[in-house]
Amino acid sequence: MRAVVLVGGHGTRLRPLTLDTPKQMLPIVGRPMIEHVVGHLASHGITEVVLSLGFLPDAFTDAYPDGRCAGLPLHYAVEPEPLDTAGAIGFAATHAGIHDTFLVLNGDVMTDLDVTGLIAAHRRTGAEGTIALTPVEDPSRYGVVPTDDDGRVLGFIEKPAPGDAPTNRINAGTYVLEPSVLGRIDPGRRVSVERDVFPAMAAEGTLYAVASDAYWIDTGTPETYLQANLDLLDDPGGSVVAEDASVAPGASVVGSVVMAGASIGENALVEDSIVGSGARVGASSQVVGLSVLGAGAVVADGERVDGVRRPEVT
Ligand code: GDD
Ligand code: MG
Repeated sequence: MRAVVLVGGHGTRLRPLTLDTPKQMLPIVGRPMIEHVVGHLASHGITEVVLSLGFLPDAFTDAYPDGRCAGLPLHYAVEPEPLDTAGAIGFAATHAGIHDTFLVLNGDVMTDLDVTGLIAAHRRTGAEGTIALTPVEDPSRYGVVPTDDDGRVLGFIEKPAPGDAPTNRINAGTYVLEPSVLGRIDPGRRVSVERDVFPAMAAEGTLYAVASDAYWIDTGTPETYLQANLDLLDDPGGSVVAEDASVAPGASVVGSVVMAGASIGENALVEDSIVGSGARVGASSQVVGLSVLGAGAVVADGERVDGVRRPEVT
């Protein structure tokens, strides 16, 4: 089976990290996120990944010039303009000539989801589409998906107002789809799978869902991107420091991510924060409270930044 992986979004919530690097090319413990995602698909027998690209596509094509990533061949589908999630799926599937049952993934999710089991469930019910669900504490950030006892999807409510969600089971961003779903997507214009296609399928009763309690995290905010890194470590109080980053004597790095080429000055403190590639944290300075330093950003000697994004983003 082939998988369309959506990686064309602007990663707005992760700025400034995503000003020059697409979200799925940011490192998660030493490897770009996309390699974790594709490696997981390879372990479930997926044979080819169609990358649905839009924002900064060269970051991917330059990183995998021979068109292979984590053991799988890549097909690059570059959108001429952002088509939103369903438009992107339609464009990529057509570009790659997909005519059979296929998998779709949001490329910014780190998960141990049983993709093999999801495909098997899809075959059993004969659904037109089957989506994986995961429980979360605050469903208002996600697509909320009530089902009946047989797993038939009753509705799809994307990002409901806080308190309005009928269930805490949300769209985990992995779908098995029949090619007939492509016929529901008008080519060449913005169409949302969450706001247009899935609600229509739910109303017709052709959409099913399978709940899972596997590890799952959407890496799309500074908090969850940091958490996704720390979750991969054995050491609960640890940090992820790139091999070629430098940490001067007396400095402490706690619960943080420090990317390639960054430097942390003497006696500085970096806590619960993200230091982007090539950023410089001066001597005796403090970077705390989920601060996010973009590529090459500078914190002066002795300066304290708390919950700040640098450069500032709007
Ligand atoms: N090619 C392309 N074109 N990709 C896009 C576009 C586009 O126009 N817009 C978004 N994407 C990609 C993003 O890069 C990301 O990998 C994926 O589609 C989902 O977009 P996000 O912006 O991360 O969406 P979200 O996290 O707010 O919500 C989505 O994911 C949740 C689970 O993580 C929705 O699918 C929710 O329903 C879901 O619960
Ligand atoms: Mg997301």
